[in-house]
Amino acid sequence: MPLKDRVVVISGVGPGLGRGLALRCAAAGADVVLAARGEERLAAVAEEVARLGRRAVRVPADVTDEASRRRLVATALETCGRVDGLVNNAFAMPPMTDLVDVDLDAVRAAFETNVLAALRLTQLFAPALAEHAGSVVMINSAVLRHSRRTFGVYKMAKASLLALAQSLATELGPRGVRVNSVAPGYIWADNLKRYFEALARRRGVPVRQVYDETAATLDLRRLPEPDEIADAAVFLLSPLARAITGQCLDVNCGEWHH
Ligand SMILES: NC(=O)c1ccc[n+]([C@@H]2O[C@H](COP(=O)([O-])OP(=O)(O)OC[C@H]3O[C@@H](n4cnc5c(N)ncnc54)[C@H](OP(=O)(O)O)[C@@H]3O)[C@@H](O)[C@H]2O)c1
Repeated sequence: MPLKDRVVVISGVGPGLGRGLALRCAAAGADVVLAARGEERLAAVAEEVARLGRRAVRVPADVTDEASRRRLVATALETCGRVDGLVNNAFAMPPMTDLVDVDLDAVRAAFETNVLAALRLTQLFAPALAEHAGSVVMINSAVLRHSRRTFGVYKMAKASLLALAQSLATELGPRGVRVNSVAPGYIWADNLKRYFEALARRRGVPVRQVYDETAATLDLRRLPEPDEIADAAVFLLSPLARAITGQCLDVNCGEWHH
């Protein structure tokens, strides 16, 4: 149990990776503090965590809102007494438009959740993390590895998040805090399943065929499950990674080599 009796805060607990992070951190022995806007999802994931025998503290929070962020930090410390890990997973889909046409207000909005909220939460949790040789993980994306059309704002945001993680690693390292990134490619969870179902309907083929065709392009011939990506974050949060900081771990079944 690499996270035994540690406390991990997870921002953005949705049906995909956020839920996986909560469950894998709990399975690794951690109590978790779960933050998102949707209270129903928080309750459902908290129940699953409890079934694993760990405590889940639910904090309905909008990470773009300063009062909400401060409440998240205060609640985590009041209820758990310490924070050992922070996973910045919250994600707002950026406009999927070519950069030459994109509206700048939409770019700013994407940066609020995907970059600035991660920076602000790390600032606010830094003193608590420094007390316990803590660890921060930024959930990045394989968009770092390509420059396909319409992914420009997504790439700008995630490239900025990577730069942020690296600079924070330098700033927080002397205080014993490590900062790393995990970059998933495909995640075989609800969103992607729905997308593949739509593709399959459009083409008149079984979903399995869309899956197999996509998987054929990956070294391991399958798509990563949320738990498998979450386990990379668990590793980076744990003492097994005690000499690792400022790094980005690609978790993609071999889609991209880096
Ligand atoms: N899905 C993929 O294929 C994929 C691929 C590569 C990388 N990633 C990365 O993996 C991470 C997780 O993606 P996912 O698709 O699996 O999503 P997820 O973890 O299932 O859900 C993310 C959650 O973030 C929450 N969120 C959004 N804005 C928020 C805000 N302002 N305050 C608090 N919470 C907020 C949303 O919940 P509420 O609406 O309830 O707040 C949402 O459900 C993201 O960083 C994403 O970039 C995903």
